[in-house]
Amino acid sequence: MSSSKPVYATSNGVPYEGHPYESQRTSDGYLNLGDFHLIDELAHFDRERIPERVVHASGGGAHGFFELTDSLEDVTRCKMLTQVGEKTDLTIRFSTVAPETGGIDTVRDPRGFAIKLRTVEGNMDWVFNNTPIFFIRDPLKFVPFIHSQKRNPKTHMGHGYDSTVFWDYATQNHEILHQFVYLFGDRGIPKSWRKMNGYSGHTFKFINAKNEMVYVQIHVISKQGVEGFTTEEGNKIASQNPDFHKADLYEHIEKGEFPEWDCYIQTMTADQAEKFRYSVNDLTKVWPHKEFPLRKFGRIVLNRNVTNYFAEIEQLAFSPSHLTPGIEASLDPVLQSRLFSYPDTHRYRLGVNYQQLPVNRPRCPFGFGNMQRDGANVIESQGDFPNYFSTYRPFQAQTRDNGFGNEKLDSTAGDFSADKHDGIMRDGVRYFLKHVDERDYEQPRALYMKVFDDGAKQRFRENIINHASTIQYTEIKQRVADMFAILDLKLGEQIAEGLKVDKPNPIPVQPAEMRFIRQ
Ligand code: HEM
Repeated sequence: MSSSKPVYATSNGVPYEGHPYESQRTSDGYLNLGDFHLIDELAHFDRERIPERVVHASGGGAHGFFELTDSLEDVTRCKMLTQVGEKTDLTIRFSTVAPETGGIDTVRDPRGFAIKLRTVEGNMDWVFNNTPIFFIRDPLKFVPFIHSQKRNPKTHMGHGYDSTVFWDYATQNHEILHQFVYLFGDRGIPKSWRKMNGYSGHTFKFINAKNEMVYVQIHVISKQGVEGFTTEEGNKIASQNPDFHKADLYEHIEKGEFPEWDCYIQTMTADQAEKFRYSVNDLTKVWPHKEFPLRKFGRIVLNRNVTNYFAEIEQLAFSPSHLTPGIEASLDPVLQSRLFSYPDTHRYRLGVNYQQLPVNRPRCPFGFGNMQRDGANVIESQGDFPNYFSTYRPFQAQTRDNGFGNEKLDSTAGDFSADKHDGIMRDGVRYFLKHVDERDYEQPRALYMKVFDDGAKQRFRENIINHASTIQYTEIKQRVADMFAILDLKLGEQIAEGLKVDKPNPIPVQPAEMRFIRQ
């Protein structure tokens, strides 16, 4: 809102001349359907709720920054982790897991600790919990496990009333024990969001500038210390203020008592991982600190309360798949399925253009673009920038791996091992050719040369020439002639003549050899 004293107006911005509390009525008392002000208000109200998060629905958060105190350049090329002293703007959302939105803060439940980092390389999300381990290690158990924690489908009551389902699931799935020992121990009900740690839980991979990989666990350790409530304390507070944790965070930030966390990594080499007693991809295990010491790299400070909860917290869309170069997901199957699940739920919860919402919008210094356009609730549709991979208005080359903005596309980018099965059915899956080869010219050549009679050939040439004559760049016109010359040199020459370009050069173009037009 641009002014501190806004003009009262309808949603189309027209100042309302009547009283905000007076609906228009006909002389015999009926409401007037033409009362846009009233309909505008009721209709918007009818749509105020969006789906709540299917888990972690109840929470709160604040804005702040991450500051790199010690470079991690030896293990990652992530810019945010290599330029000491650099501050990265962030927003954190803390949450309970099982309760619905508005649920009681001081219940026994893990806490979400999700951090959106607006880095110079785009947004990165650390979607952590306050425990270093998790209940499951096979993603297929996630949905039934969560169901066992939620309301009973028959009674609609939680497991505080009847814990049969809760324990029925747990006692049949013993990998849950590590998390349960945390949950029913002294950390099960945090005293405040300020007094809890955040953990990646999952193993991630850090890749440095030399392309060397180490496995990493990230720890975000509270400078306020870690403290918990007993069950009795939690219940007492719940009856006095169900929003206890929200209030605690809000009030401390308002008073200028900004909560702070130190950030650490543990690292493990591939060799160490082979000898490790547990799998690095097992989310139910921690890495002993003695063997894998904590290494500090930065701090996090929360110093700004939100001005609007819905816009700045509810609409946050975190995903473990939002990573910047130098940090990759490990093969932990739970992490791998989370890479799918979060953006999928955002498209449902917030709509396909959720990344354009102000709180989710990347603020990287370089202008960025892609081929995504339109859809519901577009806020910014990339102006007049080409909506395909254009050779006359190419994207800038921004990453070290592709030079396509300069001369050509890196032919190795996006390589996939199925290449050797090109164009054939295998196990019910069709693999397509990535590169073009002579087989791609055989059938169109036969169609033109052998099936078309002279009249059809001539009409075909004319159609091409007429259509391509409106091309605005001579270089692209030349490419049209070159392309058809591969089918038949004479055809290429006739098209070149029609388009008034040079004699054609019948050479197939591979993605790596795409020619960009320098302007
Ligand atoms: C929220 C799925 C495991 C941490 C969510 C949401 C979904 C989800 C669908 C709601 C997101 C939204 O509406 O924005 C899953 C699945 C998992 C899994 C399918 C395993 C297969 C985990 C693990 C962690 C975690 C292991 C922590 C290490 C969180 C957090 C949130 C969340 C912190 C709340 C994010 C926010 O504040 O917006 N999860 N989750 N989840 N999950 Fe998971």
